[in-house]
Amino acid sequence: MNFQRLVFSLLFAITNSFCNGQSPQYLESNVPPYELPELLTSQNGETITTSSEWVDLRRSEIYQQFEELVYGQVPTHKIQTSFKVSDLDKNALGGIAVRKEITITFQANGKQLEATLLVYLPKTVRGPVPVFLGYNFYGNHTIIGDPGISLPSSWLRNNATFGITENKATELSRGVRASRWPVLYILSRGYGLANIYYGDIDPDFDDEFKNGLHRLIENSPKTAEWGSIATWAWALSRALDYFESDKDIDHQKVAVIGHSRLGKTSLWAGASDQRFALVISNDSGCGGAALSKRKFGETVKVINDRFPHWFCDNFTRFNDQEETLPIDQHMLIALMAPRPVYVASASEDQWADPRGEFLAAREAGKVYRLFNKQGLLSKELPKVNAPDNQGAIGYHLRSGSHDLTYYDWKQYLDFADRHLRN
Ligand code: GCU
Repeated sequence: MNFQRLVFSLLFAITNSFCNGQSPQYLESNVPPYELPELLTSQNGETITTSSEWVDLRRSEIYQQFEELVYGQVPTHKIQTSFKVSDLDKNALGGIAVRKEITITFQANGKQLEATLLVYLPKTVRGPVPVFLGYNFYGNHTIIGDPGISLPSSWLRNNATFGITENKATELSRGVRASRWPVLYILSRGYGLANIYYGDIDPDFDDEFKNGLHRLIENSPKTAEWGSIATWAWALSRALDYFESDKDIDHQKVAVIGHSRLGKTSLWAGASDQRFALVISNDSGCGGAALSKRKFGETVKVINDRFPHWFCDNFTRFNDQEETLPIDQHMLIALMAPRPVYVASASEDQWADPRGEFLAAREAGKVYRLFNKQGLLSKELPKVNAPDNQGAIGYHLRSGSHDLTYYDWKQYLDFADRHLRN
């Protein structure tokens, strides 16, 4: 680790612990003894031995527990969704891509909300193309310096380095997040890329659910109803609805990807909607791929205190009580089975507990075996930059900090080639 990185990681850890008022636990020897809830024993004690028993019984038991206790149910109130191609450039990026913008309109109770889905498709590929779908943190225009991308009009987190002040998008931030979205590389590998600014769906601050999609529904969510992560996940499925109507996109080959809080979101989207053909969690950590019961790095109390709007209220019952959770995150990963799923960590991102992410991904392999699929091969946390990705579950520990990098994308594209190109 170079000096700058070391200082950055230390500062990150100190800031996090300062914000929490508790010191995070980073010592393996202090991980409490814990027992993972059994994936393959149903609530009435039956042992699950076949894929059909998993599908018919156990999967929905686990899904419902995550819905009620962690992410929250989607309210029954109907939200109407419609799509309109609002911009189309058949010669984007110097002629190598098609760029589309689709305005998604959500309506309920006479109120409406608009979000923009940005899609790039490679012109070199004939016929419907497989697509990666993910959210960005600062606006679609930040993912590449393309002047044709429209600026979001919704609330943005201020970031002076990115030219964002007064919570509004400006021209200055075009392309500032290009390192996370190597659009040209993705296109050159024969995939499309679809992106939405997550704040278009639900601005990421605690306002007691008065903004974003929540504004369309009169009441604030009940204790078992959706927090922001479930809301963002639900809207990813609406993007998938749109893909079903777009003949240029292979809607059966959509990989859902997310980094950090948006990695938690991609996992919940993949669990909730089995139309997603591949699911990628990049450095998702607590409430994502990492096992909660290890209490390593970020814990349930810390995440609920700092981000009260992310999960459903029931999740707070497990603040400092992780041992009483009837589920853990290996079960979330197992909900993807038999579809391919990829979990990635970064070596300096101890806050997200790389080992806890690996152990969860490894344990989920039990369910893949019911489908005659191989999970992870490694018994121990793989070395840095040595991916374990030959089975239907992939994992790597990248060297470096909490980020989504070219290295990560290279692994995801190789994994997608193996699973979506047959
Ligand atoms: C914070 C939070 C994490 C989250 C991360 C992110 O660090 O504690 O849970 O994953 O932000 O989204 O960048």
